[in-house]
Amino acid sequence: MKGLILSGGKGTRLYPLTFTSAKQLIPVANKPVLFRVIEAIRDAGVDEIGIVVGDTANEIKQAVRRGNKWGVEITYIPQEAPLGLAHAVKISRDFLGDDRFVMFLGDNVIQGGISPLLRQFAASEWNSQIVLTEVNQPERYGVAELNDQGQIIRLIEKPKVPPSNLALVGIYMFDAHIFEAVNAIKPSWRGELEITDAIQWLVEKGYRVFPYIHRGWWIDTGEPGEMLEANSRVLEEITPTIEGYIDRDSEVDHRVTIEKGAEVINSVIRGPAIIGENTRIVNSYVGPFTAIGAECRVQDSEIERSIVLEHSLIESLPARIQDSLIGRHVVLQRSPIRPKALKLTLGDYSQAGLL
Ligand code: DAU
Repeated sequence: MKGLILSGGKGTRLYPLTFTSAKQLIPVANKPVLFRVIEAIRDAGVDEIGIVVGDTANEIKQAVRRGNKWGVEITYIPQEAPLGLAHAVKISRDFLGDDRFVMFLGDNVIQGGISPLLRQFAASEWNSQIVLTEVNQPERYGVAELNDQGQIIRLIEKPKVPPSNLALVGIYMFDAHIFEAVNAIKPSWRGELEITDAIQWLVEKGYRVFPYIHRGWWIDTGEPGEMLEANSRVLEEITPTIEGYIDRDSEVDHRVTIEKGAEVINSVIRGPAIIGENTRIVNSYVGPFTAIGAECRVQDSEIERSIVLEHSLIESLPARIQDSLIGRHVVLQRSPIRPKALKLTLGDYSQAGLL
């Protein structure tokens, strides 16, 4: 089997973080979502992986390189524009050949990995297997309608009136018949070649498409709230390790990871939380569900349920930061200079929730 990861697209709902950076490289629990996807595929025994890339190709290539770090071989497949998930499959034909493959969206995080799923599909004669899960707002996803025997009747992309609450999770398994489907379908109302339509085509033509119902959590990290949710979920599951330094005046919970070279001085950290490499936490409080990236400093401040990316500084803030997503090289500081006012340099599409 081969793996195909979709890591193109624009990531507009995560502006301004994604102006300069691919959304798949935003970390949850200090590891980019894309790296978690590569690991899930590798752990399922697949070591030939294609990554579909768009405008952010260079950044992704720089972060992932040839895949040696994971013991896999990466092939990059450039997509000229985000013309749809089925378009991404179409342009990957040369890489995929006639092999069966798993396609994984590069911005999805799923509980429990995909090994059992892949084993089941590899041993089967099925033409495709899709993963479904119950969600609260099915209209935001591809949705499946099943009959009483649990067979697929219909698949529909972001329906206004969803026929069920079963969403298509961003993990799909196919054999080479999918190429007939992606070549046969037409673009949808949003101008994309939808993978949902391609799978519907397979069903209509009598190919064997089986659903697998995922019972754990799954998050499509398209928006800031979903990034924070994914961060919380993953932090709850990682095994904590202390590789950095904690001084005697600090109080650090047992569910906290302190990465190499990090220092915690006279501070309280309540888990689950992670403090990145070479980051300093001084006279501060870091609350549950917080991930502070590498090379940051948090001083005389309080922060909770937030993600802070690398090289940022948070200092002497008068209020606790909560439910926040803070980019790279950000400076958040109380200013001693009069007049006493908010002095902000915010990029395009920034959002600041002030007291
Ligand atoms: O996350 C699950 C949902 O993903 C499914 O329920 C939907 O059926 C499916 O269409 C898809 O919907 P989204 O609207 O969330 O897809 P999005 O545009 O966010 O793209 C998903 C990933 O694929 C993302 O990492 C970007 C990448 N991508 C997207 C497009 C449209 C590409 O690499 N190329 C593309 O052309």
